[in-house]
Amino acid sequence: MIVNSILKMGNPNLINVAKKVENISSHKTDLNEIIQKLFDTMKFFNGAGLAAPQINISKRIIVFGFDFNPRYPNEKPIPLTALINPTYIPLSEEKIEDWEGCLSLPQIRGKVPRYKYIEYKGYNADGNLISSVIEGFPARIIQHECDHLDGILFPARVLDFKYFGFENEFHQKK
Ligand code: NI
Repeated sequence: MIVNSILKMGNPNLINVAKKVENISSHKTDLNEIIQKLFDTMKFFNGAGLAAPQINISKRIIVFGFDFNPRYPNEKPIPLTALINPTYIPLSEEKIEDWEGCLSLPQIRGKVPRYKYIEYKGYNADGNLISSVIEGFPARIIQHECDHLDGILFPARVLDFKYFGFENEFHQKK
């Protein structure tokens, strides 16, 4: 297991646009190593997703998925998935505003609007195209992780800062 440290908000490398991976199949070994690091690091920190720039690798690679996630205990399992050069398109204009967190902002949560229905595309380390139509929480994760590849952290998407802050504080009695 290879657990990397995760860059935190404020680190300049989190706001760069990550580089597209070229000639995927000829870099299969290196890409699989990066993907394994991402999975190991995501699981170690109980993340629902992780993007390569968060472990200081400026490449367009994301991973997501879990069986049970203590940070999101009410969410259903999502198959472990790695995507190289991921993209998505919304399948309707409908957005859901809901709580979101990020391993680059420990203990912080904010309400962020995201498209409810998307179709994503990306490649595996063999260079084969993967695509799927998804909705709800997994669609939220993919939009969040793709934002990381463009140097965007979720606070930039928060519309109302009444719903942004330390997670524990939102549970305090008024
Ligand atoms: Ni994040």
